[in-house]
Amino acid sequence: MDASPKPPRFYLTTPIYYVNDVPHLGHAYTTVACDALARFMRLDGRDVRFTTGTDEHGQKVAKSAVAAGLDPGAFTDRVSERFRSLVEAVGATPNDFIRTTEERHHRSVQEIWRRLVQRDEIYAGKYEGWYSVRDEAYLAESELIRQPDGSFRAASGAPVEWVAESSYFFRLSRWQEPLLRWYAEHPDFIGPESRRNEVVRFVEGGLDDLSVSRTSFRWGVPVPDDPDHVIYVWVDALTNYLTSAGFPDEESDTYNQFWPADVHVVGKDIVRFHAVYWPAMLLAAGVAPPRRVFAHGWWTVEGQKMSKSVGNVVDPFELVKEYGLDQVRYFLLREVPFGNDGDYSRAAMIHRANADLANDFGNLVQRVLTLVQRNCEAAVPERGPVTPEDEALLQAASGLGAELRSLMETQQMHAALRALWDVIRAANAYIDHAAPWVLARTDLDRCRTVLSVLLEVLQRVAIFSQPFVPAGAAAILDQLGVPADQRQFGDAGRGPAPGTPLAAPSPVFPRLTSKFEADAG
Ligand code: MSP
Repeated sequence: MDASPKPPRFYLTTPIYYVNDVPHLGHAYTTVACDALARFMRLDGRDVRFTTGTDEHGQKVAKSAVAAGLDPGAFTDRVSERFRSLVEAVGATPNDFIRTTEERHHRSVQEIWRRLVQRDEIYAGKYEGWYSVRDEAYLAESELIRQPDGSFRAASGAPVEWVAESSYFFRLSRWQEPLLRWYAEHPDFIGPESRRNEVVRFVEGGLDDLSVSRTSFRWGVPVPDDPDHVIYVWVDALTNYLTSAGFPDEESDTYNQFWPADVHVVGKDIVRFHAVYWPAMLLAAGVAPPRRVFAHGWWTVEGQKMSKSVGNVVDPFELVKEYGLDQVRYFLLREVPFGNDGDYSRAAMIHRANADLANDFGNLVQRVLTLVQRNCEAAVPERGPVTPEDEALLQAASGLGAELRSLMETQQMHAALRALWDVIRAANAYIDHAAPWVLARTDLDRCRTVLSVLLEVLQRVAIFSQPFVPAGAAAILDQLGVPADQRQFGDAGRGPAPGTPLAAPSPVFPRLTSKFEADAG
């Protein structure tokens, strides 16, 4: 990333979710990842805007409404509500939940359209070609995969249909060179690197003009001055990022502070829309493109693609109920490098919860606080002279802030957690080696110094773990006697104040046992 100081504001977004179906693990993943980033930036003193919401128009949603026997309005109200509950269920803290059926959004989409028309970026024509309703994507024949029965499918596996209808087109072909220049001048625009290369290759291959309206159904934002057309659902959906930032009110504080967005986090399947169509549309409309698009990978379940027909779709509400919120958040962010594909299994989930949360972190807190109860009159002890071993651990912990900041700037949540756990493991090795329970009998001053060092390290680790495991981190900070208004990253250097009374500890991260044991192996 460039080295210039970052402005204190930060705008990040999840994709907005299609309301054709109820939320699953994949949706929870993007939301949790963005929430960890948002919480991190807030605790780091930045003015954060974090948005999510639902993508409610288009043929796919219209068809699902028919299948449910509801009109699209009633149907989308119902399913959108499920996504709103998901936000709560995974402990996410967005500043806005946007629905594309809202009036503010219609205004914004139509305004973008008008600007494109004014700049001669849109013209009327006829689309004849393939369309995948499931992907809501136009596809060139060369992108299709022929099936044994001679029919075609999209690379995603989605069925395609032949469409021939009047349509407006966006002059995307004009934007090939400007886009390539944009990527070259903004090396951080697409992450991870592998996706960036993929996008550049795609654009180098040439761009066709893009069909941006449909006439064969009505469920969408009408084209201004031509209501027989509805605006293509991706033009509509992508514009949500602007709407939520106050567009078209470009004088508003929100818009001025938060646009362009700092990062759109998306799944790898929708990179082309975000990293090709979206910046092209914005450049064409005279609006600044976002700073970055980061694509994460996909989850399989016990090695298989998650699908309704297989019956292995993981319900995030059930998951949280079964394993706990922190446990699910931690697993999703730690198990897989952000950007790679991952596999969910009960065994892996339980292993992470037990090994990392219950054993490494929870037990350490419990041990330290129990020793403080017994040997320090239940209060933060004074620290005597420190040894090189004490120094080494204290330094590892005090280096966390800078290290985590640079990892989170590039959306490397897994590496941030690894760095945190390196310190936790170092603290476990330190306590085993220093054996304060022995020192309690042989050298009480040294025992207290060791515990004081551990309290400082735990305080830092707990402060920096808040974005990932908010409930557990809060409980630990309570037990460490850290006041609620001193939990920002800027407070991490204070250290525990000697004399602060500490209550007897209670376990924070339960071990998942009995009914789980068979799965964990
Ligand atoms: N509505 C569009 C996005 C419009 S954004 C302007 C859409 N919606 S979606 O509901 O189908 O998908 C939303 C996100 O969920 C995507 O980022 C997608 O990659 C992600 N996932 C869907 N299934 C997934 C997995 N199995 N694993 C991980 N993420 C997955 O696309």
